[in-house]
Amino acid sequence: MIDRIKSLEAEAAKWLADTAEEVEDFRIEFLSKKGKLNALFDQFKQVPKEEKREVGQALNALKVSLENRLEELKSGLSVAGSKKGDGPDVFLPVGLDGLGSLHPLTLVRRRITEIFARMGFSSEDGPEIETDWYNFTALNFAENHPAREMQDTFFVSKEARQQDDVLLRTHTSNVQVRLMEHKKPPLRSIMIGRVYRNEAISARAHCQFHQAEGLYVDKNVSFKDLKDTLYHFAKEMFGKDTKIRLRPSYFPFTEPSAEIDISCFICKGKGCNICKKTGWVEIGGSGMVDPNVLSSSGIDPEEYTGFAFGMGIERIAMLKYDINDIRLFFDNDVRFIGQFKGA
Ligand code: DAH
Repeated sequence: MIDRIKSLEAEAAKWLADTAEEVEDFRIEFLSKKGKLNALFDQFKQVPKEEKREVGQALNALKVSLENRLEELKSGLSVAGSKKGDGPDVFLPVGLDGLGSLHPLTLVRRRITEIFARMGFSSEDGPEIETDWYNFTALNFAENHPAREMQDTFFVSKEARQQDDVLLRTHTSNVQVRLMEHKKPPLRSIMIGRVYRNEAISARAHCQFHQAEGLYVDKNVSFKDLKDTLYHFAKEMFGKDTKIRLRPSYFPFTEPSAEIDISCFICKGKGCNICKKTGWVEIGGSGMVDPNVLSSSGIDPEEYTGFAFGMGIERIAMLKYDINDIRLFFDNDVRFIGQFKGA
């Protein structure tokens, strides 16, 4: 029996395929119901008891090796071995299987943009190297306010002629200010980009990550509008049964402020490791734009109100795709980044 297993393996290793039909022939010959592998499995019953263990292991190994050979033939139709010669046949048509795939963060980013675009939100962009004014002061962070310490900032060395500190933005909220300075309400935008924080790198934290910032400013924008918008987003992103919960919080640039939780779509709220048995997971912060922020950007807070929110893209991707280490997004290992198909 062991001999037969070995010779079948050798036979499969020599098999060459130039076309999809020939790959299929391989599958039928070896791996189909009536194929040679199953024939050997059928004979397993007759193997004497004392040999069963060894033969069983060899048979399972053969199965794996045949499946690998099939994949090899599929993925490199021309490279795995061509009947027409030793080298690859450069005249064969290019297999579409080899096309690249999008980075998981790109997939999530595009999906967020799409969901908000359908609600009328335009996409805006802003600088990653920013001044203290746009990152902090215009967002109502008072000088020496402890909230500045909440976001460990990378400062860029300051030249004597510069009035203001220059830094790597710690959040995408800087784009809110730039937008309000240049456009007058009604404003409805989503701003996605990379942010930086001086944090020790671990499975849970990185010194660079991405955020999606949202801003809606118009007459009579209410907290209910914020809640409805976030609820709609959560259902579109995580599934129609998803619920949201807004927990009171503090941000200098919003009043009132709230942390955004979504019901854990893995355990459906029952409690699991992802939600730490609470049934809820946090995805970002939100609130009503503080009147001080509106006026520092030149918008009259007596006339207009607005809501804003900020969410972590990695956080959403980690939940969506069940990824447990944030470093994977930045390692550029194609075995990781190449496995995702749409958010
Ligand atoms: N900028 C906040 C952070 O990085 C997130 C945030 C909270 C953005 C509330 C907002 C908001 O626009 O309203 O932690």
